[in-house]
Amino acid sequence: MAKPPARFLCAACGAVTPKWAGRCETCGAWNTIAEEPAASAGPGLQKPKTNARKLAFVDLAGTAAPPPRTPVGIAELDRVLGGGLVPSSAVLLGGDPGIGKSTLLLQAAASLATAGHRVLYVSGEESIEQVRLRARRLGLAQAQLELAAAINLRDIAASLEEARDATMVVIDSIQTMWIDAIDSAPGTVSQVRASAFELIRLAKSSHFSVVLVGHVTKEGTIAGPRVLEHMVDAVLYFEGDRGHQFRILRGVKNRFGATDEIGVFEMTETGLAEVPNPSALFLAERRGNVSGSAVFAGLEGTRPVLVEVQCLLAPNPGGAPRRSAVGWDSGRLAMLLAVLETRCGLRLNASDVYLNIAGGLRIAEPAADLAVAAALVSAATDQPTDPGMVFFGEVGLSGEVRQVAQAESRLKEAQKLGFGAACLPRRVARGNRPLFAPDGLALQEIGHLGDLVGRFAGKGGKSST
Ligand code: TYD
Ligand code: MG
Repeated sequence: MAKPPARFLCAACGAVTPKWAGRCETCGAWNTIAEEPAASAGPGLQKPKTNARKLAFVDLAGTAAPPPRTPVGIAELDRVLGGGLVPSSAVLLGGDPGIGKSTLLLQAAASLATAGHRVLYVSGEESIEQVRLRARRLGLAQAQLELAAAINLRDIAASLEEARDATMVVIDSIQTMWIDAIDSAPGTVSQVRASAFELIRLAKSSHFSVVLVGHVTKEGTIAGPRVLEHMVDAVLYFEGDRGHQFRILRGVKNRFGATDEIGVFEMTETGLAEVPNPSALFLAERRGNVSGSAVFAGLEGTRPVLVEVQCLLAPNPGGAPRRSAVGWDSGRLAMLLAVLETRCGLRLNASDVYLNIAGGLRIAEPAADLAVAAALVSAATDQPTDPGMVFFGEVGLSGEVRQVAQAESRLKEAQKLGFGAACLPRRVARGNRPLFAPDGLALQEIGHLGDLVGRFAGKGGKSST
């Protein structure tokens, strides 16, 4: 038989090319193309040769019960999963090394096992001893889960075929899995893809949920081909700043629930602790009455989260002024500075601007514009914002302050945490339903960023309530 022609695969996007190149033409990544034996074209361990069967098409209206779910018993995790694990589904948990993925899954596994479920934990990265050590440290050594250290997928598959009564199977991590039929090292595109394919197939046939741990590359995507994200039912990212204690579990894809939900944890000496009230955590170290600080009433998924936006202006010694943003988009910071200069007459171009979201949280919502602007104006005028006030609203290029979603849940959270006032976009009469502000919360509606600047500049006073 003729030797099949060699093929080349991009490790970043999974694209196939007939010849090697320094740069992938599909995704533009450099040095990601490597030769893969053609035999690896079809994933999986078995390729049954059966005759084609006609499909039995059905109508849309059928008995479509919501998928049954098994709550893990860790509320912050269950929320992101959409209520719990769905049988026969596959979940990919991505995150930087050392962020706490194994810790989280060991806690989840122990919680399920304690509730009487069968849980299998396959570690390809750590030895049995290391996992036991961690379990002891977490106080979970007595949990009745089944632990194995293995990387050979043939062995794992043979064991999982018999795990029909299992609720969850953890594979830590997918990059360590290895199929002997494929002639490349663990962690390569074809190994990762074929291993995931096989594990997902097993989950479907044996009706357990498989949780795959995936490493994250420097660029922030799960190592291995993007196809991995398409193959699974849910993709969760575990993120956080090594310098901070808290960790955020973020759902980016979920076939069985809402995405952009977050779960908040705190890494403690004895594992991950749930943080049911993240706002209190993020505001814990706030000091009132300093200029350059404003509290943003944000939303993460369906969940309101209050965070402090901090801004520092420093005299620029000459040359191009620095603009640095941590936790917030620097392009949006530049835009707000331009709007404040051009539309509101605030002189900022002689200063270096440093913006920081306290606590290490990353904010993507444009609704934070108003809070960032308030922090900037407060720093520029050296006057503190009202420490009892929260801010939210999007700012447009002409300086107009625009409505944002879910004003009411933001206000409710602010009131719950003892804030007395909120600065928010002015409601335009047309089409706006009335806003139900919680009792005891004074609303300051703002139509243009100039109004905000006027509050600080006018009467030499504070942003009065
Ligand atoms: P780990 O779960 O091994 O991370 P990952 O699987 O994502 O690579 O987490 C390791 C880090 O967590 C390590 O730096 C130590 C820290 N840690 C604690 O602070 N407390 C604990 O109880 C545990 C088990 C780990
Ligand atoms: Mg790990």
